[in-house]
Amino acid sequence: MSVVLITGGAGFVGTNLADRLLVEGERVRILDDLSRPGVEENLRWLQQRHGDKLQVEIGDVRDEAMVERAVRGASHVFHLAAQVAVTTSLEEPMQDAAVNLRGTLNLLEAVRLAPRRPSVLFTSTNKVYGALPDVPLREADDRCTPLDPELAIHGISEHRSLQFCTPYGCSKGAADQYMLDYAHSFGLATVVFRMSCIYGPHQFGTEDQGWVAHFLIRALRGEPLTIYGTGRQVRDILFVEDLVEAMLLARGSIETLAGRAFNIGGGPRSAVSLLDVIDRIEQLTDAPVSLAHEKWRTGDQRWYVSDTRAFGAATGWTPRVRPRDGIEALHGWLSGERDVPQGVAI
Ligand SMILES: NC(=O)c1ccc[n+]([C@@H]2O[C@H](COP(=O)([O-])OP(=O)(O)OC[C@H]3O[C@@H](n4cnc5c(N)ncnc54)[C@H](O)[C@@H]3O)[C@@H](O)[C@H]2O)c1
Repeated sequence: MSVVLITGGAGFVGTNLADRLLVEGERVRILDDLSRPGVEENLRWLQQRHGDKLQVEIGDVRDEAMVERAVRGASHVFHLAAQVAVTTSLEEPMQDAAVNLRGTLNLLEAVRLAPRRPSVLFTSTNKVYGALPDVPLREADDRCTPLDPELAIHGISEHRSLQFCTPYGCSKGAADQYMLDYAHSFGLATVVFRMSCIYGPHQFGTEDQGWVAHFLIRALRGEPLTIYGTGRQVRDILFVEDLVEAMLLARGSIETLAGRAFNIGGGPRSAVSLLDVIDRIEQLTDAPVSLAHEKWRTGDQRWYVSDTRAFGAATGWTPRVRPRDGIEALHGWLSGERDVPQGVAI
C-alpha cells in the first residue's frame, strides 16, 4: 500500500491533514524536525490515535539524504514544512531561505529523481502578492474595504502580479515558482496553494504566526493583546477542515491541476477584521480583551481577501465553516480539551 508523505506533518495544518487521511484508512509518513514549539504534542496525539499506521521521520528538509529517504515509496507529497513567520525571516533571512527555498528544492529534486514520481502539493502564501499598497481602501465600520467594487466582491485572484515582500515572501514565493516550473520543465505533477490565514484546532498561534489562535490563547489567559496597526485590517480566514478538504480535492485532480497555483482562503464571505475577531472572542469568553496598539509591521497587508473562484470552478470546492462557528470550535479546543504547552511563547 502506498504512503502519503507530509513534510511539516506535526504542525498545525499537517496534523489536521494527517488525521483526516489516517481516519480514511491511508498510510501516512511525517517528516518534521519538531522545531515549532508545541508540535510534539500534536505528534503524540496522532500517534495515540493511529499507532503504527503513522510513520514518523524526525528530520530536517535541509538534509538532502533525509528528504530523499522520506520521499521513497510515496504516492503523493504535501510539502508543508517551513519557517513560517515573517518576523523571524526578517531576523534570520539566511535560515529562512535555507528551509523554505533550499528545503523545497531538496524535495523537488528527490521527487524528480524518484523511480515513480509522486505528485506534490505546496503550501505557499498570499504574501507572494506583497503588501498591496496599490489597492486603495476606505476604513469604515471597523474594517478596511477596497474602493474597487470588483475587488471588494471577489477578492484577489491569481492574475494579480507577484510582488515578493519580506524575506519570508521571497523564500516562499521563490519556492512557489520552482514548484510551478518543475511542472513545466520536468513534467512533475505539482500544484500550489497560495493560502490566506488558516485557523483551527492544533494551532499553537503566536504573535509571529497564527493570529486567531494567538488572540484566543491570550484572551483565555486574561492577558492583553497587541494590535499592530489599526485593527481594521481584513483577512479571509479559513477553518482548517475546509483547507484539508481543498487539499484532498486538489490531490484527486492533480493531473488536470498540475502546474497551476490557486488562491485559497475563506473568500469574501469569511472576510473579518481583527476587531471583528476580538468581538467574537469577547462574546465567547464573556470578558473584555485589553488591547495595546503598536505601529504597522513590515509587509503587513491592510486588506487581503482571496478570490477562490478558480479553485472552486476546477474542483467544486467551497468553504463551509463560517468564522463565527470556526472561532467557537477553536475556542472549545483551546479551553476544553488541552493546555497550551509551556514552550509556546505568546
Ligand atoms: N497557517 C497559516 O495561516 C498559513 C498561511 C499561509 C501559508 N501557510 C503555510 O502552510 C504551511 C503549514 O503551516 P502551519 O500553520 O501548519 O505551520 P506550523 O509551524 O504549525 O507547521 C510547520 C511544521 O514544519 C516543521 N518544520 C519547520 N522547519 C522544518 C525543517 N527545516 N524541516 C522539517 N520540518 C520543519 C515545524 O516543526 C512544524 O511542525 C507552511 O508552509 C506555511 O508557510 C500557513
